[in-house]
Amino acid sequence: MTPASSWTRRHVISLWDVTPAEYDTILTTAASFTEVLSRRNKKVPTLQGQVVTNLFFEPSTRTRSSFELAAKRLSADTLNFAPGSSSLSKGETILDTAKTYLAMGTDIMVIRHKQSGVPQAIANEMERLGTNVRVLNAGDGQHAHPSQALLDLYTMCCLLDEKNPRVELLKGKKIAIVGDILHSRVARSNIWSLTAAGAEVHLAGPPTLLPKGFANFTQPLNDQTNTDIPRDLQMHWQLEPALENADFVMTLRLQHERMTDHMLPSLREYHQQFGITRERLKLCNPGVKVLHPGPVNRGVELSSDLMDDPELSLIPQQVTNGVAVRMALLYLIGGGR
Ligand code: NCD
Repeated sequence: MTPASSWTRRHVISLWDVTPAEYDTILTTAASFTEVLSRRNKKVPTLQGQVVTNLFFEPSTRTRSSFELAAKRLSADTLNFAPGSSSLSKGETILDTAKTYLAMGTDIMVIRHKQSGVPQAIANEMERLGTNVRVLNAGDGQHAHPSQALLDLYTMCCLLDEKNPRVELLKGKKIAIVGDILHSRVARSNIWSLTAAGAEVHLAGPPTLLPKGFANFTQPLNDQTNTDIPRDLQMHWQLEPALENADFVMTLRLQHERMTDHMLPSLREYHQQFGITRERLKLCNPGVKVLHPGPVNRGVELSSDLMDDPELSLIPQQVTNGVAVRMALLYLIGGGR
């Protein structure tokens, strides 16, 4: 396994400046954890004695459970914070909540919040206080969802070379990201990783859900411009040009909770124009695979039968791989041995 000592990042908040070599470190480390997870005893003592706290200020099924299981497989002690039953409802600030968990000896904080920038703000506070706490962003507003993009990357690379997943496998591959790009932190993080890998990234969605600024996607919220890595994106208001000869199709949930006004005529019409179906996949390269971060609106973003077709859908693998990838992140930033 790659020694965690070769890893220099303290926090993982965004992927904007992650290098191909760092992606490869994450992929190789995740592959060794996939091997661990295939054993009868799926636990390793890597983070024994450390406390991993899940601070999820926004609802989540798979990301929270996946981080919790990853931490447990690494033998860490885990704490779970749920806003509904917490002192937040008594007026405690987010930073004070974080400091409460710091005082209990938390080593790694995994943070999700509906507001962009909260994980960064907590990371800054932890540094200002001179602590050694590390922060993993588990999704903040529309800004970033690094662990999701990394598990997507891992899932695609493993499909191309299961034993030796690495970013160069995606060089020149055409990847279509379809749907509600505007509200999607998953799309934003995937754009960083896939373009760094040298993939050809095509975005498709209705004009109301496709931010025009993405044409020059060099400076997202809280990030600095990085001109070293090409960020060429192709944008389409129709589905077909994005699907033609695509190797992977990444579908996104329509994020109704983030939509301000009538951004869509109707779900039926959306499905007619942008829904992924078996018929439409005929435009893609043979062997095309479909991804979705979940939760899925069945029959809206993609047809229900497609979602359940193991020949076409990578959705179950994404969930399975999420645990290994999050173990890799916890191991690397946790300085595990
Ligand atoms: C995504 C999220 O929460 O950003 N889901 C996830 O983490 N698996 C995407 C979504 O909510 O649509």
